[in-house]
Amino acid sequence: MSKVKKRYAHVGMGGRSRMYTDAIVGDFSDSCELAAICDISGGRLDLANRHIVELGGSPVPAYRADDFDKMIAEAKPDVVIVTTGPDATHSDYICRAMELGCDVVTEKPMTTDETRCRKILKTAAKTGKNLQVTFNYRYSPPRSQVKEMLDSGVIGEILSVDFAWLLNTSHGADYFRRWHRRRENSGSLLVHKATHHFDLVNWWLGDDPEEVFCHASLKYYTPTTAERMGLAGRSERCRNCPVAERCKFHLNLADSEDMKEMYLDCEDEPDGYIRDKCVFSDEINIWDNMSVSARYKSGALLNYILHAYSPYEGYRIAFNGSRGRLEHHACENTYISGDGTIPGELEKGNTTITLIREFSSPEQIEVRTSKGGHGGGDAPLLADVFDPEAPADPLKRKAGRRDGAYSILVGVAACKSIDTGKAVKIADLLGDAPL
Ligand SMILES: NC(=O)c1ccc[n+]([C@@H]2O[C@H](COP(=O)([O-])OP(=O)(O)OC[C@H]3O[C@@H](n4cnc5c(N)ncnc54)[C@H](O)[C@@H]3O)[C@@H](O)[C@H]2O)c1
Repeated sequence: MSKVKKRYAHVGMGGRSRMYTDAIVGDFSDSCELAAICDISGGRLDLANRHIVELGGSPVPAYRADDFDKMIAEAKPDVVIVTTGPDATHSDYICRAMELGCDVVTEKPMTTDETRCRKILKTAAKTGKNLQVTFNYRYSPPRSQVKEMLDSGVIGEILSVDFAWLLNTSHGADYFRRWHRRRENSGSLLVHKATHHFDLVNWWLGDDPEEVFCHASLKYYTPTTAERMGLAGRSERCRNCPVAERCKFHLNLADSEDMKEMYLDCEDEPDGYIRDKCVFSDEINIWDNMSVSARYKSGALLNYILHAYSPYEGYRIAFNGSRGRLEHHACENTYISGDGTIPGELEKGNTTITLIREFSSPEQIEVRTSKGGHGGGDAPLLADVFDPEAPADPLKRKAGRRDGAYSILVGVAACKSIDTGKAVKIADLLGDAPL
């Protein structure tokens, strides 16, 4: 007798959707079935179906965003996958899918502000539906290894954390080209990007954030930097820009077949998506320098900085414990989202874990690494999403709405702190929403 397959509907068929489509149509096709797809762009819906056929599957019913309810009624999915961008669009789909009886798998960030966050938490509690947030960074082997070491108590109680994440002038710059560059779309990089980093800290510490303060500035992706680089006379987008030849940030969408098909060829659509806007535009209202100070419920303190214009991409983190210190450092490859390169792969030989026990010399720990997207985290994450027989995970990497909420609320609190000049309590943002 053939197995009953779990049925998935997928909304948001842009760059990130491919990882999920490939998994359902490929490795997990024995237990999963793609029942329908949805997007605001007809061009990207057609492209997604062409891609499914290339993978050896059959085209699936495709619905415009206005017909989301119709899609659920006709396709009868068990689970809705949400990979829409802008991130601010996630919450409407998450809540509606749960109200219509579906479980949900959503990309990070779960949402972008506290109002939407509370609505998601209340809807999940009311409907009893499950929400998984796909924090792939947790599954990266060295980050899982750090979790195991901290949980073993080797440095005792964690008293403070220093965390610096550096985005480079390739991938980091890319956030300033499209929808991410507006705070109302992405919540700024403090939510869109840092949700990964705050989730890692929350998970590594096994603790909840309590209070947040933040300073931030926008100093690099500005018209002033463009003038310094001799880019006077530039246009609002890279395509046909008169200074393209001398601009180090010039992106020619036609150079990558993937980007051309997904974005350039879909520009006639009414959604008005332009993928190659100028990174020096005065339309940008997110920050490129962010410095966060947070306190956890245990009393542990976090210092976190995020820069988006570094010459290399990577991070360094140090945990100061009551019985020693653990340092971890990694560099990532250079890529632009959707250009066909594996995103966020860790550079071989450039990932370290150093343990310094109390009153002892540093010990270099052999690092577990693996190839693949986002520090090798994408593949094991997919197994946790789609494999019905995935084994129980002692590291509890499968993340739900509680993790999704606490990780974004640090960033949301940081934004409010920038606005007001005051520290912000996470409990005030959560209000009466049930965790
Ligand atoms: N976990 C990771 O490492 C990772 C990596 C990349 C992206 N992401 C996340 O995935 C999501 C998508 O990112 P992306 O790079 O694919 O973006 P994208 O811009 O390439 O694609 C977004 C898609 O959503 C569609 N869309 C926009 N508004 C919509 C609406 N109201 N209804 C339905 N569809 C709509 C767009 O037409 C587009 O097809 C984002 O939330 C992003 O944070 C996560």
